[in-house]
Amino acid sequence: MNEPTGRLAGKVAIVTGAGGDIGRAICVRYAQEGARVVAAELRAELAEATAAAVREAGGEALAVPCDISHTAGAEAMARAAVERFGRIDVLVNCAAIFGTIRRAPFYELTEEEWDACMAVNLRGMWLCCKAVFPTMRAQGSGKIINISSGTAFWGSPQFLHYVTSKAGVIGLTRALAREMGDYGITVNAIAPGLTLTSAALATTPREYLEQRAQAGALKRPQHPSDLVGAFVYLASADSDFVTGQTLVVDGGRVLW
Ligand SMILES: NC(=O)c1ccc[n+]([C@@H]2O[C@H](COP(=O)([O-])OP(=O)(O)OC[C@H]3O[C@@H](n4cnc5c(N)ncnc54)[C@H](O)[C@@H]3O)[C@@H](O)[C@H]2O)c1
Repeated sequence: MNEPTGRLAGKVAIVTGAGGDIGRAICVRYAQEGARVVAAELRAELAEATAAAVREAGGEALAVPCDISHTAGAEAMARAAVERFGRIDVLVNCAAIFGTIRRAPFYELTEEEWDACMAVNLRGMWLCCKAVFPTMRAQGSGKIINISSGTAFWGSPQFLHYVTSKAGVIGLTRALAREMGDYGITVNAIAPGLTLTSAALATTPREYLEQRAQAGALKRPQHPSDLVGAFVYLASADSDFVTGQTLVVDGGRVLW
């Protein structure tokens, strides 16, 4: 077999929430760049579908059905990656309560909705970072990429739990970058703008989607393919001296 080529040749990347459109696009692009991919996802059939998409693109993938909002699921994910591929170079924390979120005024949200959102979007992210840490520390290297959202900058109304969780991702990224720097591990975040995924289409009114497509410096809708280049950059050696940062990828809507 030929040696893999590409900007992530020889790397092993875990992507959580790999069954969503953004997670799947990252997995396929990482494989095209030479990485072996672990598709971690709550819904087993979606994990398998993403692994199949990676294989179709000529890559190698392991589907790991797991619930990353609990220690057991996060640790099982990291263990499966090491057992199959022997190392973990990249963790993309993409899993979130997003496609199933209920949009409502803040005074109508329930404690259960708030807690469920935080359990995946923040606690799960922390637990996944914790789960890969022993392996990355032993390697003396690693790259963690957390998905925030443009909503955290914009303060988008009608889903306060989600927006708050995505703002929390930025704080988590900054503080963790300082703690992980001593071990050669970088921690960064990407904040996508509204991206046309099946989850976004299910939760966002059509008029709003059309309005948003005209709201940035670049006036067109955003697709998962617009994001993957930034994920490759933060996973590759090109970003070795970049940590604690949040990169907004939204066609120039949020400028900060
Ligand atoms: N689409 C957008 O407009 C947009 C914008 C900004 C940020 N984001 C973020 O990008 C990411 C992907 O978004 P998407 O549009 O593909 O949404 P999505 O809802 O399709 O993807 C999220 C995936 O996470 C999985 N998941 C949920 N809970 C889990 C758990 N406990 N354990 C493991 N997996 C779990 C879901 O099953 C789903 O496949 C999310 O973090 C989302 O918040 C999306």
